Amino acid sequence: MKKVQFTETVMRDANQSLMATRLPYADFEEILPVMDKAGYYSVECWGGATFDSCLRYLGEDPWERLRNIRAKMPNTRLQMLLRGQNLLGYKHYHDDVVEKFVELSIKNGIDIIRIFDALNDFRNLGTALESVKKYATSRTIASGCISYTQSPVHTVDKYVEMCKNLVKMGFETLCLKDMAGTMSPYEAEHLIKGIKDAVGDVPVILHTHCTTGMAYMTLTKAIESGVDVIDTATSCFSNGTSQAATETMFYAMQQYGIETGLDEKVINQVNDFFKPVKQKYVDSGLINPKSMATDSQALVYKVPGGMLSNMIANLKDMNAMDKFDEALLEIPAVRKDLGYPPLVTPLSQMVGNQAVTNVLVGERYKNISNEVKNYFKGEYGISPAPVDKGLQEKILGAGGQPVDCRIEDSRRTGEDFEKAKKALGDLAETEEDLMSWICFPKQAEDFLKSRKEKREQVVKYTIEEA
Ligand code: CO
Repeated sequence: MKKVQFTETVMRDANQSLMATRLPYADFEEILPVMDKAGYYSVECWGGATFDSCLRYLGEDPWERLRNIRAKMPNTRLQMLLRGQNLLGYKHYHDDVVEKFVELSIKNGIDIIRIFDALNDFRNLGTALESVKKYATSRTIASGCISYTQSPVHTVDKYVEMCKNLVKMGFETLCLKDMAGTMSPYEAEHLIKGIKDAVGDVPVILHTHCTTGMAYMTLTKAIESGVDVIDTATSCFSNGTSQAATETMFYAMQQYGIETGLDEKVINQVNDFFKPVKQKYVDSGLINPKSMATDSQALVYKVPGGMLSNMIANLKDMNAMDKFDEALLEIPAVRKDLGYPPLVTPLSQMVGNQAVTNVLVGERYKNISNEVKNYFKGEYGISPAPVDKGLQEKILGAGGQPVDCRIEDSRRTGEDFEKAKKALGDLAETEEDLMSWICFPKQAEDFLKSRKEKREQVVKYTIEEA
């Protein structure tokens, strides 16, 4: 019998896509033992923006949150999203930091680490992958993830080649990550068939978003074409900029006689639990109705939805909405000059801002942003296709070549941990505290200070009571 398994994303991507990752642990704690019985392939519950959001907005220790989820869900694989050498941020960390982060993630409860790089520069996945292998338990899975995008150079053959490379590196599963939700059913069919033909038994996972309205068709075609795992969100946290609905996909698969491993009663119970949670954030305004709607603009303009709204906001700010059409045409031109990077953070902002600048200044690349300069210097990795030679020369000088930041940047010095110890003093009680500071210094310090204050208050009250 054909089998397709489900990854439930309500705690991570659905939370991140619909409500800016503001879902506190207390809001879902009660349902975790129930979710543990659902029969998911995995639950994506950590990584991405959850770490930063815990420290910055929720006053939660992300590590403690993970340990709590682990304790309440002993039987389900817990999954996280990791941005390769950038961990959960946008800069390159030293190799010893990446290794320790992976070690602590596994130690605190993560089973599946899905690792990607915004540019698909797989050198940025190497250290994280080696670390996963080094600290792996019998449940650990290293999943190699590709940022999906469309461009003249992103052909099926190119994606198949990428998948082969990831398998060669030692990844045990492969994931296509369509963050903009622009993968069509046609594309899914050809990609999944091509990849499955090339990699044989390696499980292939599809991660997409409903943003443009295509996700259900695309997932269905992917399933017909042999995909092994799909990412979905419990239905009240599905659709819009989030994933397709778990129960809906389950229902459809059942009629085809496809085995999912899911318990229908349990997945409905999970949805019933989250309904009032969602309503609370609709009422408070944290969930914007816009994020729950379908927006096909990304298909029309070939620009991810978030990038388009950013550009419109920028143009409005500068009273230059009359330049909208021109700016829209300039985006693909800038993207071509940069060698067709996938339009994800931070590349989407970089390309969008440079396009708007080019149009507003009235001369292309008269002003070049520091981010674009750094990109040409090689600080973000290798571009998917060669960059524009003229522009490269303008930025790096005649004969200038990008440097390999990976080599310069990957020393194992322990210096970051020393810095963290010095900065935090007795605020740091564990390696996890130090790691929080290395990743998000200001947010971690504020959080650890308030944790200390709260504890001292508790001690004071206890003494007074006695
Ligand atoms: Co996503």
